[in-house]
Amino acid sequence: MIKKVAIITNGGDCPGLNAVIRAIVKTAETNGVETYGYIEGYKGLLNNNYVKLESKGKASGLLHRGGTVIGTSNSTNLFNYKTEENGEVVYKDMSDVAVQNVKDAGFDCVFTLGGDGTQKSARDFGVKGLNIIGIPKTIDNDVNHSEITFGYNTAVSVASDALDRLHSTAESHHRIMILEVMGRYAGWIALESAIAGGADVALIPEIPYDINKVADKINSRRKEGKDFSIVVVSEGAKPIDGEMIVKKVVDGGKGLDNIRLGGIGEKVASDLEELIGLEARNTVLGYVQRGGTPTAFDRVLATKYGAKAMELALEGKFGTLVTLKNGKLGYVELEKVIGKNKEVGARSGGTDSTSIKTVQMDDDLVKVARDLDISLGD
Ligand code: F6P
Repeated sequence: MIKKVAIITNGGDCPGLNAVIRAIVKTAETNGVETYGYIEGYKGLLNNNYVKLESKGKASGLLHRGGTVIGTSNSTNLFNYKTEENGEVVYKDMSDVAVQNVKDAGFDCVFTLGGDGTQKSARDFGVKGLNIIGIPKTIDNDVNHSEITFGYNTAVSVASDALDRLHSTAESHHRIMILEVMGRYAGWIALESAIAGGADVALIPEIPYDINKVADKINSRRKEGKDFSIVVVSEGAKPIDGEMIVKKVVDGGKGLDNIRLGGIGEKVASDLEELIGLEARNTVLGYVQRGGTPTAFDRVLATKYGAKAMELALEGKFGTLVTLKNGKLGYVELEKVIGKNKEVGARSGGTDSTSIKTVQMDDDLVKVARDLDISLGD
């Protein structure tokens, strides 16, 4: 019988995090279980910092709220933790301290709400003896074995809305309007919002683009009398003869999510201006696509994931990730989610990670984009 559980929200904030927290708390209360929330993701585990979550208290009024009421951290890797000793920066494995803290607090299960980096650490904590159940969170939709992550639908909605707005300026000024969206090494947000927003070009990390092909597409539109075009660029997109643009590397890229991408939209805009002679403008959508109210879809998905996670805990199905497959809730072993990244404590969430779910060339979205003559730059 489980009596006390804890929640961690880790990685970038994401619409629906609070809705998951609320669903876990409510399902726990229905089953006579107490819920706590660690403050600021994995950092809370190390600092032994947690608060009680009750539907009559901190977990009230959460369904529609963006962000996370228990805070998050997207650079804390407790297996390779940045600290200072005698004025020098050193990296230490602090995972045993965290494990002991959880055991001392008496938590029968820890729910880890996060993306691939978070779930890699979650699996590693499982190997070290904690009862873990993961929930796939990220606007990027790139968690392996997970049909859809909560937060993604909201990000796509915000991006499509932005594309609708960019359309009017593109048309009025006869410009090429570029929208750079997030997604790290996966092109889901770019591809789906390009389809939803009627874009002419979608550039994604999985398909290195040829700028001449993009120019051909825009020129063929001009021949048809359309003197404007809309291009969606994923932050991780790269030209066939170039690399991804890394804006900043924090802490030598050693944290869970310490490589910041960004800048490719500006490059595409200036390259197209030069090649075509039409004015081009870039808009970086940034954190707008990650904050604020979740869509109704994400609220329901988050609620389903939260309730299912608590059900799994009651059944003792630890070391798992909640999933949705063909519309049905289920679960998969975290061991499978982390792919080939088996070594405990090894870095994850980076370019060399084999564990993320990228866009496959036979995906319906790719086929549909091609059917609609959306150029993918190849
Ligand atoms: O993983 C979610 C995400 O928003 C990515 O799409 C983006 O690359 C990254 O997080 C940005 O993270 P940060 O909060 O460190 O800027």
